[in-house]
Amino acid sequence: MSEYKNKKSLVIYFSRADENYAVGYVDKGNTEYIAEYVRDITGAQIFKVEPLIPYSKEYNKCIEEAKLRVGNAPIKNKINDISQYEVIYIMTPVYWGSYAPEIETAIKDLDFTGKTIRIVTTHEGSGLANVVDDIKKICKNANILNDSIAIKGTECINARSKIEEWI
Ligand SMILES: Cc1cc2nc3c(=O)[nH]c(=O)nc-3n(C[C@H](O)[C@H](O)[C@H](O)COP(=O)(O)O)c2cc1C
Repeated sequence: MSEYKNKKSLVIYFSRADENYAVGYVDKGNTEYIAEYVRDITGAQIFKVEPLIPYSKEYNKCIEEAKLRVGNAPIKNKINDISQYEVIYIMTPVYWGSYAPEIETAIKDLDFTGKTIRIVTTHEGSGLANVVDDIKKICKNANILNDSIAIKGTECINARSKIEEWI
């Protein structure tokens, strides 16, 4: 069994429903499927990062809004303390080549000393893009594993076995 199956874990993820590239209008975002698979497989707690002001439901408006939120993306609820977790999974859609800007707001003030980070992106062509490098810049004291994975948005719903193997 994978050594990560039984570690005390937290999933921090961002995911947006409504209209998106390739999937049309959906009730559940692509990344949320992955967060839930990891929760089901590892027993992790999950924390959904939510924007203070929701993005537009229309994809074309949302992409413009996301550009403006880089470096300034207020969120609804903050995580204050990750001390009880050994492994932190960070999951985000690729937004303009990096993480969703709200992810930065959620993680930038946390103390990652001694924590292991595993990263998942979902995307429609960019793969991991700059997400891993950008998370490394923020989480300086963390042990970021070299096994990050990128899952195509349209494949997330069927990615349970892929996630099981990866864990
Ligand atoms: C604001 C915005 C920007 C995006 N930028 C990219 C990108 O740069 N590269 C890419 O491959 N996909 C991009 N996408 C597609 C998303 O990464 C992809 O659909 C993802 O699976 C969405 O995850 P979610 O449904 O959990 O929110 C973008 C989507 C949005 C809404």
